[in-house]
Amino acid sequence: MSECLELCSVTAGCILVSWIGPQRGPCYLKNAAYQDRPNAQVTGGKLIGTPSSTASITSSASLSTTASRSISSSSSSTSSAFVCTSSVSGWELIGDLKGGVTSPVGANISQLLKGYLDAQARDGGYTAPGPLNSTACQSDTCCIWSYIAADLYPFFQETDGQCNQWARRAIRLGFHDAAGWSKPNAAAGKDYGGADGSIALSAEEAGRPEHLGLAEIIAKVQEWQQKYGVGMADLIQFASNVAAVTCPLGPRVRSFVGRIDSSTPAPTGLIPSVFDSTDKIICLFGDKTLSATQLTALMGAHSTSQQFFVDTTQAGLPQDTTPGIWDTQYYAQHRPGAAKPSGVFQFPSDLALANDTRTKSQWTSFALFGSQPLWAGGYATAYVRLSLLGVNNLNNLTECSHVLPQARTTFP
Ligand code: HEM
Repeated sequence: MSECLELCSVTAGCILVSWIGPQRGPCYLKNAAYQDRPNAQVTGGKLIGTPSSTASITSSASLSTTASRSISSSSSSTSSAFVCTSSVSGWELIGDLKGGVTSPVGANISQLLKGYLDAQARDGGYTAPGPLNSTACQSDTCCIWSYIAADLYPFFQETDGQCNQWARRAIRLGFHDAAGWSKPNAAAGKDYGGADGSIALSAEEAGRPEHLGLAEIIAKVQEWQQKYGVGMADLIQFASNVAAVTCPLGPRVRSFVGRIDSSTPAPTGLIPSVFDSTDKIICLFGDKTLSATQLTALMGAHSTSQQFFVDTTQAGLPQDTTPGIWDTQYYAQHRPGAAKPSGVFQFPSDLALANDTRTKSQWTSFALFGSQPLWAGGYATAYVRLSLLGVNNLNNLTECSHVLPQARTTFP
């Protein structure tokens, strides 16, 4: 039941849950209250207050049990050099929105960051008003992005419909560019290095060892930028979102354009290593305003991952048995007690996060049968935040989610 409520706490719009016991679920999330109907098999739960990532939950097996939640974790640690001093809700405003909402898009982003809006785009699609470079196309900011999406979608796919190595690299590139921002750095006058394109605009940043494996996709985004003349920061985040939705079962993460590019290399020390402690990883993400719960949702990107440089003698081994599909096998195959499938390479950090008290419950929830839509929602919410780190003109962005390819919710 606590897992069900944890899921509710990271799912936009969720206010109530029903948990069918005594077996492990299923867990039904609800965005509205219904008439109570006594049922001994069903446990109900209700979230009170604003969303918080770390829920303190009590529940009993009676319908409409009330579960209060509060931010109880400060991601602090005494066992490593990484002591986080502030608690991280995962719902704070960032960038210029801290100074106020001044536009409709700013209002939408603000609601997304607070977890009140669905972070997945569910519109019916888009038809370009004219050919690329036509006046009609140029008069619609998102038009050019529809051509980029149409270009990237087949490029990110295998002939059997699974997503390929370019998609994997693009997803990772989106993370590595945005992750170069942190709140403590910003407070200390280094408010740069987030989703600003610097990973592909600064040779110094691109050449750092933590970015090993990204050289080819960096060359590709440079090529695409030349071809389309769009901003690099936007291109990297848009490509990451096209890649995710290209993967079968992948989420259609809401996408914004209008970021400001920078060729200043991001501050160092902000990209996690597979050999970092969970204290350090949770702290690193907390410093990016991402909660432990949101970190857990983002880690699922390793569902489509392969490693080449952690152990070069096992180059190409994936982190779950289905690296071409955006499924929850990664969570299931890393969950506490699970045996490592042959042919899978597990990172120490992934195993540690699967077992850490601050992430284990959420991890296990994502491993449950039927949790795909819940993970997709959690990933989308966390990725929207990640993709906007260090962006200080959020009120001036344009939403282009509607030009993304449609999600494929079944496969094959
Ligand atoms: C604790 C946090 C993380 C660590 C330590 C980590 C580390 C790594 C490492 C070492 C690789 C393999 C690189 C190689 O050897 O080729 C990798 C691959 C990958 N990572 Fe992460 N990662 C983390 C979080 C994330 C997040 C948050 C995302 C996206 C939201 C992400 C997306 C990916 C993807 C898609 C790949 C596959 C790249 C490919 O196949 O070329 N990772 N990660």
